[in-house]
Amino acid sequence: MLWWMRLSRHVELLIHNIVGLGEKGLSTEALHAEEAKISGFLKSFKAKGQSFPLLPKVKGPVLAVKELAEKLKGRFKDIVILGIGGSALGITSLRDALKGPLWNLDGKPRLFVLDNLDTVGELENMLDLDKTLFIVISKSGTTPETMAQFFYFREKVSKERFVFITDPKEGELRAIGKEYGIPMLTIPAEVGGRFSVLSPVGLFPAALLGIDIEELLAGAEKMATQFGETEWDLNLPFQLATVQYLLEWKQGVGITVLFPYSSRLASFADWYGQLLAESIGKEGKGITPLRGVGVTDQHSQLQLWTEGPNDKLILFLEVEKEKSPLIPKITREKLAYLGGRSFHELMNSEKKGTEQALTEYGRPTATIRIPSLSARTLGELFMFFECSIAFLGEYYRVNAFDQPGVELGKKLTKKILQADPKGLLSDNVA
Ligand code: PA5
Repeated sequence: MLWWMRLSRHVELLIHNIVGLGEKGLSTEALHAEEAKISGFLKSFKAKGQSFPLLPKVKGPVLAVKELAEKLKGRFKDIVILGIGGSALGITSLRDALKGPLWNLDGKPRLFVLDNLDTVGELENMLDLDKTLFIVISKSGTTPETMAQFFYFREKVSKERFVFITDPKEGELRAIGKEYGIPMLTIPAEVGGRFSVLSPVGLFPAALLGIDIEELLAGAEKMATQFGETEWDLNLPFQLATVQYLLEWKQGVGITVLFPYSSRLASFADWYGQLLAESIGKEGKGITPLRGVGVTDQHSQLQLWTEGPNDKLILFLEVEKEKSPLIPKITREKLAYLGGRSFHELMNSEKKGTEQALTEYGRPTATIRIPSLSARTLGELFMFFECSIAFLGEYYRVNAFDQPGVELGKKLTKKILQADPKGLLSDNVA
């Protein structure tokens, strides 16, 4: 068969290795029996009032993003995102997936995501502040890390170099934006931080990088349609959630390793890590996310995954086709098998070898395969994982859309700082 006839044109989920596995496997019958739950889960999800699956259909925010991006495009050498968690991880993964992880070495514009607190000064030294756009992103508009960074740069940069992305009504950031007359984009009230990458949170920085946001949304919309299907075969997000839930609940496989064979998708795995951890880790329940990168982690983590505790689902993420240089013909007999192949071919062959090794050791694996990495397939992937999390929330009967544990940490930090207003107990050497 010709390669282009074999290529699928959308995201696929291959779970045959789990079905055929034996002790830690799942039977086709057990998996399909879950189909009866889809309708009830969808109803219960709908009642929660979360609207992230509708984002691809809502045209207003996309127009606002395009209009502002058009106005600002080309005017800045660098873009700095001030945001954390759901207001940061999706943007990093968009940049890396579609522009490459080396983009900031030479990209125009470069895009930095300043989520942590200890690189503020270092990054500042690398920027020409007069040629930098700061995009401050916070759904709540009160997150201390983000707000502290905003006030820091506000002292040094005129208000014309800021854009805010925040809740339509609530929060300090909205109030400050109004006061200063700073351009603002909106995160819909019923879209939570870690589900917001397909709102202006991800779309605006993406548009400034020249990423085709219509394509991103078209891919996402296709997957959102699958999310509403009540048949097992048609609903990929439900299939993934079912596999994860049954493996954890029945077989004690409580860790999901997202293992992209692509450096471009490494930070996507971080985005997913937050989504899974913060959404499902509640009331003593949850699945622990781990991130691997193929082929690199074959030489770092794989030994543990093959012969260590059998408690991990290895979820490969495979890009079927990618442009990549050719390895020259090699005449040395022992290495000749490498010659004439592309690096991508070598990568995917190593993925197959690793997969077979894991299966031989009785370790559950599945593969998410995309035909190629593009705005469209990335949009599909974002929506695929978000929808699978919605189903997991229903399986575990937890609210996948709050984060009480995180909120408590925030509250206590505030208390600590308020109890020591002069910073007498700190070791400030600034
Ligand atoms: O998913 C979430 O809700 C969190 O990870 C938030 O995105 C993170 O805490 C930042 O919050 P905010 O966007 O309100 O600044």
